[in-house]
Amino acid sequence: MIGVYDSGEGGKSVLKELRRLMPWEDYIYYGDKAYCPYGPKSPEFIITRACAVTDYLISRGCEVIVVACNTATAAAISYLRGHYRIPFVGMEPAIKPAVLHSKSGVVGVLATAGTFKGRLYLNTLARFSGNVKVIERIGEGLVETVEKGILDGPEVEEMVRRCIAPMLEAGADHIVLGCTHYPFLQPVIERIAGPGVTVVNPAPAVAAQTKRVLEGIKKTEPSAREGSVEFCYSAKD
Ligand code: DGL
Repeated sequence: MIGVYDSGEGGKSVLKELRRLMPWEDYIYYGDKAYCPYGPKSPEFIITRACAVTDYLISRGCEVIVVACNTATAAAISYLRGHYRIPFVGMEPAIKPAVLHSKSGVVGVLATAGTFKGRLYLNTLARFSGNVKVIERIGEGLVETVEKGILDGPEVEEMVRRCIAPMLEAGADHIVLGCTHYPFLQPVIERIAGPGVTVVNPAPAVAAQTKRVLEGIKKTEPSAREGSVEFCYSAKD
């Protein structure tokens, strides 16, 4: 059983890639909706929530947990790895591939405040940005609109435009989606950014990493069996 965890609906963009790669596996998806968004919350708070969700997923038989949330990865993955025996797969800000393929020398990163403050992001930036200029923007309002299921329309367009305009004005030719909610807005982002800009979603790479981790602890072999998916959510009191 594979546990997939996010603050809400965003991690489903990762679940989709996991199921595409390993449709025969069983999944439990946990959306911590009662506490969404995580972006503005403290690392201590997110660690407490990540432990509560991990305890639940382990009690349900999960052998590996995918932290399908950049903000929770930034705040909690080191703690989780230090305190539990099972493996955790986290989200990586996809700065490296974007920098590698950028021709304009400018790359945009869209993420939450929590992700930008995390050591993981800062280390990745220091290691891989090289001579490329990286323009960071918090995706103000984007998590909330995805949670509401509003994925297109004039208001969403306006929100996306406001977030990515500084990247486009600076000449970015790649925009990294640093939050798992944002792939749900990828069609709008691509439409506004235009054909010269590549939008990078790290979810397929995270799914591939999960497969490698699973292969290290048990057999995961293609089978005709279709695995199950169960959805769980925390509810506001
Ligand atoms: N989907 C999450 C992420 O990747 C969390 C967004 C939020 O809850 O603010 O960062």
